[in-house]
Amino acid sequence: MLKMNPQDTARRDFFDAHAKGWEERNYPPRLRLRLEAMLERVSLSEGMTVLDVGCGRGVLQPYLRQRVGATGRLAALDFSSAMLEGAAQRYPFVWPLLARAERIPLLDGFVDALICFSAFPHIEDKKAAAREFHRVLKPGGRAYVIHLEGREKLNAIHDRHDAVRGDHMPCINGMRSIFGQAGFGHIESDESADHYYFCAHKED
Ligand SMILES: C[S@@+](CC[C@H](N)C(=O)[O-])C[C@H]1O[C@@H](n2cnc3c(N)ncnc32)[C@H](O)[C@@H]1O
Repeated sequence: MLKMNPQDTARRDFFDAHAKGWEERNYPPRLRLRLEAMLERVSLSEGMTVLDVGCGRGVLQPYLRQRVGATGRLAALDFSSAMLEGAAQRYPFVWPLLARAERIPLLDGFVDALICFSAFPHIEDKKAAAREFHRVLKPGGRAYVIHLEGREKLNAIHDRHDAVRGDHMPCINGMRSIFGQAGFGHIESDESADHYYFCAHKED
């Protein structure tokens, strides 16, 4: 199921090795406030089914649960078992999917919204992932790619580590092309030195 090339295996091993203490290191309270504000831009409501791609230890899950409520469904996907275990253990309401973003083990048209937070640059085959995002979304659903850093900072952070060196965030035009080719219609996006927001709509 998790067939991967050596670069992807190195990435997965890197995230497995960094899973312990991930949130404590990466999400201090001031960043959580910014995360909450960013999530206000994600259109969610009670009862929705939402997929978190590259979920890590599940940092988004409490916020998503608040928005979709107990009648909503939350699936969390990651190819690092150490990361995913953290999400599954802490949030029993979550469906953990040990899988690659390039091959999502969900039915066609299953989710109302998909969020790829702080993970898209690491996905080896971005075009295949965007096609999968389109496939698993319901008509009218939206795929969000979001970061709390701008591209320059993000790319520099990744270049500090061998396993994720070169895992760069495409520019907005590059993203428009990837998601357009995957079948998405309307796209909204904006970026600054300290954020990146991209939202692609699957047409009704
Ligand atoms: C930088 S971490 C972010 C995790 C989480 N979203 C957070 O902000 O804490 C990126 C995550 O994406 C996962 N990942 C990278 N490439 C992936 C792929 N192709 N398929 C599934 N997960 C992937 C990694 O295992 C890692 O947990």
